[in-house]
Amino acid sequence: KQNKLWGGRFSESTDEFVQAFTASVNFDQRMYDQDIRGSIAHATMLAEARVLSNDERDAIINGLNEIHAEIEAGEFQWSVALEDVHMNIEARLTDRIGITGKKLHTGRSRNDQVATDIRLWLRDHIDLIDGELTRLMQGLLGLAEREAATIMPGFTHLQTAQPVTFGHHLLAWFEMLRRDRERLADCRKRVNRMPLGSAALAGTTYPINRERTRELLGFDEVCHNSLDAVSDRDFAIEFCALAALSMTHLSRMSEELVLWTSAQFNFINLPDRFCTGSSIMPQKKNPDVPELVRGKTGRVNGHLISLLTLMKSQPLAYNKDNQEDKEPLFDAVDTLLGSLRAFADMVPALEPNREVMREAARRGFATATDLADYLVRKGIAFRDAHEIVGKAVAFGVAQKKDLSDMSISELRQFSDQIDEDVFEVLTLEGSVSARNHIGGTAPEQVRAAVARAREALSH
Ligand code: ARG
Repeated sequence: KQNKLWGGRFSESTDEFVQAFTASVNFDQRMYDQDIRGSIAHATMLAEARVLSNDERDAIINGLNEIHAEIEAGEFQWSVALEDVHMNIEARLTDRIGITGKKLHTGRSRNDQVATDIRLWLRDHIDLIDGELTRLMQGLLGLAEREAATIMPGFTHLQTAQPVTFGHHLLAWFEMLRRDRERLADCRKRVNRMPLGSAALAGTTYPINRERTRELLGFDEVCHNSLDAVSDRDFAIEFCALAALSMTHLSRMSEELVLWTSAQFNFINLPDRFCTGSSIMPQKKNPDVPELVRGKTGRVNGHLISLLTLMKSQPLAYNKDNQEDKEPLFDAVDTLLGSLRAFADMVPALEPNREVMREAARRGFATATDLADYLVRKGIAFRDAHEIVGKAVAFGVAQKKDLSDMSISELRQFSDQIDEDVFEVLTLEGSVSARNHIGGTAPEQVRAAVARAREALSH
């Protein structure tokens, strides 16, 4: 008979395939640091509650610290027969320190242990994600400030709409990420609650002090109900939802970068270090980083659906189904973290082709709305002004002439309200600087928005 930690009531060994099929150690060993921190806090609390002696506590803590070092040095032998990270570490502790190691699991179950480990692990990674997200946001602010007055076409329906500043466009990206960061901080509040002390499902008979363990592990509060605490994974679902949304934002930024780096747009040059070539076409330089980020968005969306489906209809309390929570969650974290890191490195290095962007804005009658607004200021009703300018545009399309290239007499064919001062409003600079209010595209507003955002980001 195998020497399992739960082997007492069993009369035959686990089927070999079942053993491999039910094991999670190949992926949950990633939580070794959190598992050991949780065990050290648990042992510390048990000694204060006089469930363990101080000597026993010290032996356990020293043993766990040595195991931690062993794992970090790559010397730890993970065993599939020991199923998961929790039992691998506990069995090794008993190997090292003898019978005292067998006391660590007093007043605890793997059910509250694993739920605690995942929360600690996710909390640690939320903080790493927040760091990369902040670095990307700072990069966007730097670029937006530099490009506050750079003119490009703004699009709706991917058709030239009105001139905007490139800085303003970058700040639109920034706003998406600002909301992602709020969602991340909000999710962290619900992640940072402690299941430990719930034991298997009903709590424990030992005189535990959950408040003390909570404090030692830096949780904001303890989970209020033991049944809920061991079965709840909605914090992980919530994380995947915000990760999917954040990846969606990165995929939109990616799509624009892919378009803009194409020869047809040529708005942006992406430095070679973020691109790769083709094995057949010698001329190629492909924007792989944004393309991959765009593609990876799909896997995070998939992980969200996996976790929702995993949790659907589960009865209380813990079910083994929940072992399936880790791979989707880990991969969602890795994917988001990697994508943010790639973007944070890449964004400050973007090289805008200012002349090309400006020329693109000049084409496509981007200042037609400005001309209509001009006529309104001269006393014409907006709907009539719209009609007048529409006719002028039709004339321009036929003559292959932009509004700003028409002579005053050509323009006056459409309205005698048009005077020489019209050319000020038909310039690109005139158009963007006229949109001078909070949230508008004027360079002055972009600079002010950057300053406010920088201030908000600093705390
Ligand atoms: N490896 C398990 C998991 O990932 C740990 C908890 C298992 N508990 C149990 N009674 N089988 O969820």
